[in-house]
Amino acid sequence: MSSIAGIIAVLFSFHLNILSASTSTPTPRVKNGQHFITRQLLGQHSHTVFLHGFQNDTLYVGGHNKLFYLDFSSRNQSNEVNLTISKEPCKTSPCSYDITIMHANKSLIFVCGTNGDTPTCCNMDKNQLGICNDAFKSEGIAPFSVNDSVPSLFVGDDLYSTANRYSNGNNVGIRRFRDRKGDVWSAVPKTEQKYIGLVLSKRLEDELHDKIYSFLQEKNGDQHPEADPWIARVTQVCRTDMGGSKVMLQKQWTSILSARLTCGFPTERLYFNRLLDIFVLHADNWRESKVYGLFSSRWNSTAVCIYSMEDIDRVFTTSKIKGYSGTIPTPRPGTCVRDSTTLSKEVLDIIKDNPEMEDWVKPIDKTAPFMVSHKHYRKIQVDRVMGQNNTSHTVLLLSADNGVVHEVLQVNGRPFIIEEIQPFKEKTHIQSMILNPTTKKLYVGSVNEVVQIDLQSCKHYGKTCQDCVLAQNPYCGWNGSECTSATEWTIQDVNNGQHTVCQQSSTEAQKAPNVHKVLARSSVQEESLSPSYYLSCPVLSNNAQYFWQHKGSTIECQLVNGECVYLMKEKTKDKAGEYICRALEKGYEKQVVQYSVKFTNRATALHSSSAVLASILPFAALYF
Ligand SMILES: *[C@@H]1O[C@H](CO)[C@@H](O)[C@H](O)[C@H]1NC(C)=O
Ligand SMILES: *[C@@H]1O[C@H](CO)[C@@H](O)[C@H](O)[C@H]1NC(C)=O
Ligand SMILES: *[C@@H]1O[C@H](CO)[C@@H](O)[C@H](O)[C@H]1NC(C)=O
Ligand SMILES: *[C@@H]1O[C@H](CO)[C@@H](O)[C@H](O)[C@H]1NC(C)=O
Ligand SMILES: *[C@@H]1O[C@H](CO)[C@@H](O)[C@H](O)[C@H]1NC(C)=O
Ligand SMILES: *[C@@H]1O[C@H](CO)[C@@H](O)[C@H](O)[C@H]1NC(C)=O
Ligand SMILES: *[C@@H]1O[C@H](CO)[C@@H](O)[C@H](O)[C@H]1NC(C)=O
Ligand SMILES: *[C@@H]1O[C@H](CO)[C@@H](O)[C@H](O)[C@H]1NC(C)=O
Ligand SMILES: *[C@@H]1O[C@H](CO)[C@@H](O)[C@H](O)[C@H]1NC(C)=O
Repeated sequence: MSSIAGIIAVLFSFHLNILSASTSTPTPRVKNGQHFITRQLLGQHSHTVFLHGFQNDTLYVGGHNKLFYLDFSSRNQSNEVNLTISKEPCKTSPCSYDITIMHANKSLIFVCGTNGDTPTCCNMDKNQLGICNDAFKSEGIAPFSVNDSVPSLFVGDDLYSTANRYSNGNNVGIRRFRDRKGDVWSAVPKTEQKYIGLVLSKRLEDELHDKIYSFLQEKNGDQHPEADPWIARVTQVCRTDMGGSKVMLQKQWTSILSARLTCGFPTERLYFNRLLDIFVLHADNWRESKVYGLFSSRWNSTAVCIYSMEDIDRVFTTSKIKGYSGTIPTPRPGTCVRDSTTLSKEVLDIIKDNPEMEDWVKPIDKTAPFMVSHKHYRKIQVDRVMGQNNTSHTVLLLSADNGVVHEVLQVNGRPFIIEEIQPFKEKTHIQSMILNPTTKKLYVGSVNEVVQIDLQSCKHYGKTCQDCVLAQNPYCGWNGSECTSATEWTIQDVNNGQHTVCQQSSTEAQKAPNVHKVLARSSVQEESLSPSYYLSCPVLSNNAQYFWQHKGSTIECQLVNGECVYLMKEKTKDKAGEYICRALEKGYEKQVVQYSVKFTNRATALHSSSAVLASILPFAALYF
């Protein structure tokens, strides 16, 4: 017992060493206190499903017994309907209808819910929310419990899902519902599985080879005490797969293959095995599509690894098959064919054992995750942002379990946390997150609220070109007078944040007022030193150095609650005068605030009063 604890302790500190050695986890440069648009959800919803509405700035939210239509474009309150869709009366009491799946095509919304313990789905007209005429029992499509993670996907009229077939069983797996003829199923899995994502890899030039990948977490067969109880996997099936012949694998996948998905530090044999979420950034050429996987470790650290579709495909098309030593038949098992019912017995013999690839799917950077953090990230979305000169930048949006969202720039293969966004007034769990890549709005939801974050809101970075450029936010650029949403012409330097681009660049930049002076003048504050004995200066960027200047000398900052504070210990005449707080970042120095301190008789009189003491005490406790 104690030796296992010892091993874990050693591994743990080893783990921490690696994490601190890899400098891949910068702190967020700024914390964002901007204004967001919030919509309340009536009731408590321990689980929510988000679906973009048919209009911009609208969202459908499925919750507990309710379906919401939220409009963020106007002051309209959320529209809500109660859900009781099912043919038969519910067998449980009270009957709850927790929405678990939502998809939309041009006119209809496909909705599934738990309906007590009889999962039910139906199609709803977008103009008649809550009304369904075609409800049908949906075991195997929708989950029995709201707690089950069941990704699903429409490809044309085909529905792919991963739900459990039976309420008390372990019959999850990837299934296709088409019509009776086209339904295809998985064999019962040998171990416990939890599906995280389903993705279509569409091959524009070669539809025969369109594939559906599933990403999942699986109970580890390795029972060694040091082994992680979970491992991550990716599986493939072909879109053309119709199942095997009447004698073998009828209505079962004939193209299913699986492979380990790894994320970690291979040289230290340290892996993040628990897949939490995935996001696919699709490219026109499927080979260039990237899969972003969010993982956690046994020690609650989280990591992001990035895979290319080409690498995933390569493992399935070239790796040896685990435990198989014979010659591999042609076509190779897993190859998409026009008619899978004609596949040879040799191929099906291999497929029926759920073949696993010997090679592992490794991230593009094989040596380390893209990002490692002690933050408990739970959801990921990724966006491609066009900047100056049509260059594209990649931004990751990571929500953490304490309710914050980190906006992370992928710059030269490294993470840079542009900003920490705090969308909720109180600490809360973010249950759902969805990005609209067209409008650049991000939606995050808690048990009773949904917040819209405008990623193109840029004014809070400041009033100078330099402030705007230092933010390194690809959504933002300097248009000559304001930090605003980026266009082809706005000034920015996303990769380096070099403020010198402000001087170099065209007439636009010169049009900008010399904001240095404007800012200084506007924020000079008269401080008659009562009732407080300190001067404070807001720390906007964690990457800047802040300091005070007084009568030609430089005074270090004392950081208190995110402010750069100057404490005045005594009130002698030489302490009076101008105090300037300045910030220096990447060679750009600016004045943040300026105080003019004067001693008045009134202040002296107040000196011994308890009000003054109370205002000094919090700092005194920290610094004396
Ligand atoms: C807001 O609600 C009013 C009344 O219900 C409706 O007429 C209007 O179209 C709604 N506005 C939007 C933008 O949905
Ligand atoms: C939904 O049901 C609740 C109570 O069950 C009721 O108070 C509310 O008015 C209903 N809402 C609608 C829109 O019918
Ligand atoms: C939407 O889905 C329904 C049900 O799957 C289908 O009957 C209908 O044709 C689809 N409509 C469009 C426009 O794709
Ligand atoms: C879901 O999980 C929560 C806690 O994690 C539990 O309280 C709840 O009963 C579960 N719901 C179902 C339907 O299993
Ligand atoms: C990991 O985090 C979860 C919740 O955030 C907590 O319940 C659990 O105890 C943590 N585990 C470890 C090993 O710290
Ligand atoms: C954009 O293009 C212009 C002209 O081609 C060039 O001078 C400038 O350096 C480019 N900017 C960036 C950020 O690549
Ligand atoms: C950016 O791309 C658009 C569309 O592809 C093109 O019209 C425009 O000329 C490009 N601009 C530059 C600066 O390359
Ligand atoms: C939705 O937003 C995008 C980008 O802001 C815009 O181009 C498009 O016209 C909008 N569509 C509607 C229906 O308002
Ligand atoms: C910059 O953008 C703001 C807001 O989008 C606009 O009001 C202003 O006119 C723009 N300035 C220039 C010089 O384009």
